[in-house]
Amino acid sequence: VPSPDLVVAVDGTSGSGKSSTSRQVAHRLGLRYLDTGAQFRAITWWMLHHGVDVHDADAVAARAAEPVVVSGTDPLEPTITVDGEDVATAVRTPEVTGAVSPVSTVPEVRARLLALQREVIGAGGIVVEGRDIGSVVWPQADLKLYVTADPSARATRRSAEEGGSDATATEQVLRERDRIDSGRATAPLRRADGAVELDTTPHTLDEVVDLVLGLVRDLPSRT
Ligand code: DC
Repeated sequence: VPSPDLVVAVDGTSGSGKSSTSRQVAHRLGLRYLDTGAQFRAITWWMLHHGVDVHDADAVAARAAEPVVVSGTDPLEPTITVDGEDVATAVRTPEVTGAVSPVSTVPEVRARLLALQREVIGAGGIVVEGRDIGSVVWPQADLKLYVTADPSARATRRSAEEGGSDATATEQVLRERDRIDSGRATAPLRRADGAVELDTTPHTLDEVVDLVLGLVRDLPSRT
């Protein structure tokens, strides 16, 4: 049984398997789960819904304080609402996926979500997934993971999830999103100090989950 205040930070590239891994690990350990990517997607959805030009950073910044994002943290049924509206499905559309990287580069958006993320993490007992959790949001996490996979493996998995969409096109989209996520000035995607790097390319989900559970089991106990 992990300590009740455990915090596991899971960062990595799109399609690396970090979401499925994070949810499974949280479920197996009886911890909560926070998908911070869904929060960035929710703000992006809100901007699109309100006719804000997502490529105009000043326009996005000017309205960044308005959307009220609420995340449900049950790993078996994570939820996300904006201004009370359930957007769990809406935030997965290609339109939102295509606009989320530019919105995430806006410092006012990041500052807003940083405060919210720290509030949700609170006293811990949670697996938190994103791009900057181990580096910026919660550098004191008990365990930090940096999850990667070959772009072609990620594209193959993602297009299977999307019901057999074109894997070559998907790989292009993933590479472009990585480029923006890694190159932005505020909280870019990078391996945090002390993070364990996991390349999931040759592994099944079950193997990766077992590996992570092993890492948690091996953490020094804090009694
Ligand atoms: O994990 P995801 O694909 O749902 O994330 C969507 C986008 O949100 C990703 O392209 C970059 C942004 N993001 C971020 O900037 N910081 C985070 N902690 C999580 C996501």
